[in-house]
Amino acid sequence: MKTIHTLQELRQILAQERRTGKKIGLVPTMGNLHEGHLALVKQANECSDIVVATIFVNPLQFSANEDLDKYPRTLQQDQEKLEAAHCDYLFAPSDDEVYPDGRDKQTMVTVPEVSNLYCGASRPGHFEGVATIVCKLFCMVQPDVAVFGEKDFQQLFVIRKMARDLSLPIEIQGSPIVRNNKGLALSSRNGYLSDEQLEAATALNKALRQTADAIHQGEKDFSALCERAQQSLEAAGFKRDYFVIARQSDLMQANNDDQSLVILAAAYLGPARLIDNQVVNL
Ligand code: PAJ
Repeated sequence: MKTIHTLQELRQILAQERRTGKKIGLVPTMGNLHEGHLALVKQANECSDIVVATIFVNPLQFSANEDLDKYPRTLQQDQEKLEAAHCDYLFAPSDDEVYPDGRDKQTMVTVPEVSNLYCGASRPGHFEGVATIVCKLFCMVQPDVAVFGEKDFQQLFVIRKMARDLSLPIEIQGSPIVRNNKGLALSSRNGYLSDEQLEAATALNKALRQTADAIHQGEKDFSALCERAQQSLEAAGFKRDYFVIARQSDLMQANNDDQSLVILAAAYLGPARLIDNQVVNL
């Protein structure tokens, strides 16, 4: 695997690959890679000839009070993991390479409505930062396919909408959530947790599964279900963010006659804000 730091070199190399008819798959990340990220690389490998992973901790998607500075940066270990996962190229640009005129003067991509819900309500500007960097990475790499994790369900929705709205000629694929043996969704932010907190964190997935089971059993009072889940999370040591039952089609809160649902949750545990979700098809 070759690591590339500049846009100029990236463009030269990928133009060459494209000339020989290679199909390019993209896996954008912020690094500190775990099995969840590597599953995306595997999926990209299955549907393209060349896989480009990117590592860039995008300052535009962090609020001033968030963990931009302490976000784990582990380039060397990440390179080894990508190499073992048969990634062809790693693009790891600097802030200046990505935002040459400065972040404050960057043209932004705004995906309306959905960007202001849930994670967007708790993290104002977050999805504008995500849509902007993903759009830029699409322009830099010009992939045929890009793979994103369903763990960040709302992010995947925002990216699909952006690609549709801007008529981007890129296939967006989702990839299933990778969990540890206790059901906790893998996340770089799990590294902020103590052993005890890691154990408590499994309550998030448990609350999602219990809620999904109750819906399958015919429970119709969604707000009571969400309140019960929130209380079980508080009992496990979490502080509330949101816990909602939404429609898969538009991510708006579901009515109890909707059939294709997704339960979306975020909650604070010690120093970390964790998110998870569970699809429910009735
Ligand atoms: P990051 O959190 O590093 O995640 C990169 C990709 O890995 C995302 O598509 C995310 O959904 C996926 N992912 C993370 N944990 C996963 C898990 N347990 N199972 C499956 N997929 C998982 O998401 C971002 O970075 C950034 O917002 C980015 C899209 C790179 C834009 O900066």
